[in-house]
Amino acid sequence: MRESKIKPVGSATLTYNNKSYELPAFSGTEGPEVLDIRKLYGDADVFTYDPGFTSTASCESDITFIDGDKGILLYRGYSIDQLAEHSNFLEVCYLLLHGELPSKAEMAKFDKAITFHTMVHEQLAQFFRGFRRDAHPMAVMCGVVGALSAFYHDSTDINDRRQREIASHRLIAKMPTLAAMAYKYSMGQPFVYPLNTLGYTENFLRMTFSVPAEEYKVNPVLAKALDTIFILHADHEQNASTSTVRLAGSSGANPFACIAAGIACLWGPAHGGANEAALKMLEEIGTVDRIPEYVKKAKDPDDNFRLSGFGHRVYKNYDPRAKAMQIQCHKVLDEIGHHDDPTLKIAVALEKIALEDDYFVQRKLYPNIDFYSGITLRALGFPTSMFTALFALARTVGWIAQWKEMLEDPHQKIGRPRQIYTGKQQRDYTPLTKR
Ligand code: SDX
Repeated sequence: MRESKIKPVGSATLTYNNKSYELPAFSGTEGPEVLDIRKLYGDADVFTYDPGFTSTASCESDITFIDGDKGILLYRGYSIDQLAEHSNFLEVCYLLLHGELPSKAEMAKFDKAITFHTMVHEQLAQFFRGFRRDAHPMAVMCGVVGALSAFYHDSTDINDRRQREIASHRLIAKMPTLAAMAYKYSMGQPFVYPLNTLGYTENFLRMTFSVPAEEYKVNPVLAKALDTIFILHADHEQNASTSTVRLAGSSGANPFACIAAGIACLWGPAHGGANEAALKMLEEIGTVDRIPEYVKKAKDPDDNFRLSGFGHRVYKNYDPRAKAMQIQCHKVLDEIGHHDDPTLKIAVALEKIALEDDYFVQRKLYPNIDFYSGITLRALGFPTSMFTALFALARTVGWIAQWKEMLEDPHQKIGRPRQIYTGKQQRDYTPLTKR
């Protein structure tokens, strides 16, 4: 079990209805301190109110730290730009799951454990055939990942440490296989089995883009760029989909069902669906001279249009992943000889215009990870509909690490927020004859 590491740093006094309540304050290693309100309802018969949980810490966590004002993102204390430059996705998976960078022997053992689980049960392929060919890959992923719990009964007991570990390895290993199968199914092409002599990301590219009729050679530059993109998407503190996974896991649901819940939440255009929405928006803008029209729409309080790929609940500075994504974007476009990608030109111009516009400056709206990822993923050969499935593939390790941490937290209870009720007070039933 995980030991609590928060340190008492005094308290706050709340005065309510002429009574005073002491709220203990705690600090972690980085970031804002917290006021512990766990006893408030019992003592004062009052709830706190925080729609969207903008000021609420739902848990203690050692995994990821974000400083939204400084634009800092750390995985287990390592900055995202250092990991993007020096590490690889599977090593980052180990780091997120275990808290430390692996030794050579630990990495070899982990690599083997993941590689061993890349195939899926042969009957799972039947599930794809139940979908229309034009089904959105995220609809397919929600379905087939949830279905994994029907095939791997030997790793659904969340109270068994070894079963939790096997389920974690299975999910990290099988997500690329399932995502590639979703793509192949949409293309009407045969599924391609994993080739365990390839690395994690190379294997995924081959399962996605190779066809039985031809030899397929992985482009190492593109594979490295995609591997780095996976690192950028791996975890992000208590975002909406991670909170969904934690909440699902808090009821004791099996890990496959929890990850399927996370995939469903990630699909939303305000969250992981923003990369698909951002590219569609850039393509709809079409030319640089149409940018002011769209910026005007985004600023119009009566228009619910928002610039996809802009703004963030936490980052009130440049999303450090957006910078790293821009670097990968240029590497990929250079490699495929598409330096003058017209959509990139619009993105760069839109970013410049928005960052000089008072509306965005005052609201501290900057490009986020989704702003450049769409251009990059399209250049890698993925259709727009696959973008969020790729986000889910990469975020699975973050969801799993957070799920594992929650289960090992002695303070963990079933998540059950309350509400402020504004409905009708009790009243008697009126028979139909009298209505
Ligand atoms: C991800 O949480 C995470 O960590 C998520 C994520 C992860 O890795 O898990 O980082 C991944 O989801 C990134 C975000 C991707 N979403 C988008 O790019 C969609 C566009 N962005 C917005 O929908 C919005 O910025 C959110 C949802 C990201 C954040 O919303 P908030 O924190 O609720 O911000 P807000 O709605 O309170 O906005 C504050 C103001 C509002 O205007 P006013 O009411 O003050 O007049 O800023 C405006 C908003 O209207 N605003 C935007 C805008 N985003 C916010 N206006 C125009 N375009 C935008 N993109």
